[in-house]
Amino acid sequence: MREARPSGGAAVADKPATAGTRAPRQKPAPGGGDPDTASFAAWLDAVPFACAAYARDDGALVAANRRFLDEFGDLPEHTQRERLLRGLHGDGSADAQPIEVHAPHNGRWYALHWGDTVQAGRALALLTAVDISERIETLDSHKTQQEKLLFTSRLMSVGEMAATLAHELNQPLAAIVNYLNGSLRLVDQAGGPVQVERALQAARAQAEHASAVISRVREFVRAREPRRDAHELPAIAGTVLELLRLEAERLQLRIDLALAPALPAVYADRVMIEQVLLNLVKNAIEAMREVPAARRELRVEGRVNLDGEIEVRVCDRGPGLSAQDQDQLFSPFFTTKTDGLGIGLAICRSIIEYHEGRLFFEPRDGGGSVFGFTLPRAQGRA
Ligand SMILES: Nc1ncnc2c1ncn2[C@@H]1O[C@H](COP(=O)(O)OP(=O)(O)OP(=O)(O)O)[C@@H](O)[C@H]1O
Ligand SMILES: [Mg+2]
Repeated sequence: MREARPSGGAAVADKPATAGTRAPRQKPAPGGGDPDTASFAAWLDAVPFACAAYARDDGALVAANRRFLDEFGDLPEHTQRERLLRGLHGDGSADAQPIEVHAPHNGRWYALHWGDTVQAGRALALLTAVDISERIETLDSHKTQQEKLLFTSRLMSVGEMAATLAHELNQPLAAIVNYLNGSLRLVDQAGGPVQVERALQAARAQAEHASAVISRVREFVRAREPRRDAHELPAIAGTVLELLRLEAERLQLRIDLALAPALPAVYADRVMIEQVLLNLVKNAIEAMREVPAARRELRVEGRVNLDGEIEVRVCDRGPGLSAQDQDQLFSPFFTTKTDGLGIGLAICRSIIEYHEGRLFFEPRDGGGSVFGFTLPRAQGRA
């Protein structure tokens, strides 16, 4: 039996076996039949919310209505005010009104209101607990909807632009490739010159590359439904660096992976985060094209930041960014590269914001850039 401390209060009784049913109020406990408290308890029973009265002096439960016992009777702390508060939200203070708490014993959300009253000369703190789970769930689902919409609308605008671009560019690109093939045949038949042949081949390769880039963007933008789960950062980073290993070797570029030991798992769609990291590392590699080989150092760091999120940082020794470029960095189609689309960072930002994280830039100590993002931990979510 749970300990209950009725001071003659009829309603301070253990929860009946038929939890949730509205059993008739129990008779006053033998010997404890204080008629004032009994009528007070009857009055509490008429309140359509969970309701309980605690003594102001020692915090003991004095009376409670049936609904309170049904909903909080399973929480061992319900018999004492400070213990109840600690059990529900970690501390015994009740300064803010109402206090919204997530009850651990039944998973419901409650708004707790405290009021003062005096009953039979005893100062009481009167608690009303209103079940607000439905409101919280609706709010949560609206928030998720909004996030999804924001994400989808960003991707859609990028997607629409990509589709238009693909439509506008595919035809002329195909024509260019055809003309180049024709010219190559003519040069071949005429027997040279070899420089012209090489130039034509290079031009064809570039045109083919351009169509490949367009179809890649279209493919990405036709995004599948994201699926978030618990994932280990070392595995994600490993996949991405493996994809870029050959390119890094060709450019005589060192990639250091510096992940803090025992990083907690992130709550993320793995493919999307790989996409983000790939974009950032590619940008970092491209930023060091003109940098002397000895200085081409790329570092991928992972750690838990002060807010308890997982933070990934891609650090390069490239030229960094002017203040003006920093302002436009994440806008779609901002690029300073002749072969860039300017779409990489815009997509990264959509993905990271969808994951409730932040994509950021900061100058690197000693020269270069740091592009980083944060992700929530999986703990408690996946
Ligand atoms: N690590 C970096 N160092 C310096 N500048 C950078 C870096 N990363 C991005 N930038 C700047 O931001 C611009 C936009 O980057 P973003 O990845 O969006 O597009 P992009 O690399 O130009 O083209 P793509 O769409 O192919 O990725 C780049 O053109 C470059 O000017
Ligand atoms: Mg890029």
